[in-house]
Amino acid sequence: MLNGKSIVLGVTGSIAAYKAIDIASKLTQLEARVDVVLSKEAKQFVTPLTFNAVTGRAVFSDMFDATIKQDITHVSLAETADVIVIAPITANTIAKLANGIADDIICSTVLASKSSIILAPAMNVNMFDNSITQENLCRLKNRGFIIVGPEYGRLASGIEGKGRLSSSTEIIGTICQVLAKEGDLRNKTVIVTAGATQESIDPIRYITNHSTGKMGYALAEAARDRGAKVKLITAPTSLEKIVGIETESVINGEEMYKAVKESVSSADVLIMAAAVSDYRVDNISNEKIKKENGILHLDLFPSIDILLNINGNFIKVGFAAESNNLIENAKKKMKEKKLKIIVANDITSKDSGFGSDNNRVIIISKNGKIDELPLMSKRKVADEILNKVVIALSE
Ligand code: CTP
Repeated sequence: MLNGKSIVLGVTGSIAAYKAIDIASKLTQLEARVDVVLSKEAKQFVTPLTFNAVTGRAVFSDMFDATIKQDITHVSLAETADVIVIAPITANTIAKLANGIADDIICSTVLASKSSIILAPAMNVNMFDNSITQENLCRLKNRGFIIVGPEYGRLASGIEGKGRLSSSTEIIGTICQVLAKEGDLRNKTVIVTAGATQESIDPIRYITNHSTGKMGYALAEAARDRGAKVKLITAPTSLEKIVGIETESVINGEEMYKAVKESVSSADVLIMAAAVSDYRVDNISNEKIKKENGILHLDLFPSIDILLNINGNFIKVGFAAESNNLIENAKKKMKEKKLKIIVANDITSKDSGFGSDNNRVIIISKNGKIDELPLMSKRKVADEILNKVVIALSE
């Protein structure tokens, strides 16, 4: 996801410094080049060796270290960084940055840089609430710095308040958003649906299917990372909320239909990855249905086909979950539902599809092109689909 991106991660002297190890590790796993810069105070909490081990790269903390290679100084770090993140940043470093003080390697790097800068504060609640800190943050925000958090929760002092470092997911999500500014879906609005809708039978029971929402969520995240304004309309899933996108939760097909209808007016692309239940129950019981009545007969009525019924000046992308005649059935759905792109997958395949982190799909484009992709992560599949979307947008 972050292949080829250069990220400078500054860590200052807060107890939350240990959480920066997780951030550095996850960014590295996402294939970013992570250069960690520690303040003198941060080294009281975490060691350069730890960051060196998780990033596989040199760690910087002394501006005047004569052993540092000439091509890696605070100035070169500042120049090569695609984004600088300081997590955690203390009230002290916030104050220094707000006043242009450059008396350590982190502040000098920031002052020498023209790249985007993300600050994730973590401190005692009173220090955070103090009007001096608030004014400093306001000045930095007005100068274009991006502030993430802090979050409300238990603080090191034992009390609850606003001052906890935002989660790694939140901070990395913000980094991805910042880096997406030049992406090939910038200025585009993409609506994605995900998950399995639920159709109630009574207050306790419902009809649903095996979809977990992973493919739709991967698409929403991938579109965000390519600069799109994304709205995710999701049926219930156990997946974590995606940072930096608008999410609307729905339960059944009717709610999803309404949400999609209201959202598409401003959309460039609609991707229906949701597994919408094809049937809804007529006469949902208000009371729990008791088993003493013996055999239960349910009248199931076809639910509205969202993709078929929603049309407009946007690109429609659909999925075809099939157990046989994959390409033939997918092409039929493509024609009926007036799709630009259809993504067919064989739901009987054991190593892909429902619940798996991987998928093996065939992408069929309106121009008749058929791309049979090998097994790959759903995130990679999402990017392959978006590559086709970008082509369709340019046609
Ligand atoms: N879809 C939809 N509304 C429905 C059912 C499906 O918008 N009520 C969308 C799905 O999100 C998917 C596409 O239509 O993008 C195809 O869904 P799929 O379940 O493969 O096929 P169906 O059209 O439901 O037909 P069938 O179940 O008979 O294969």
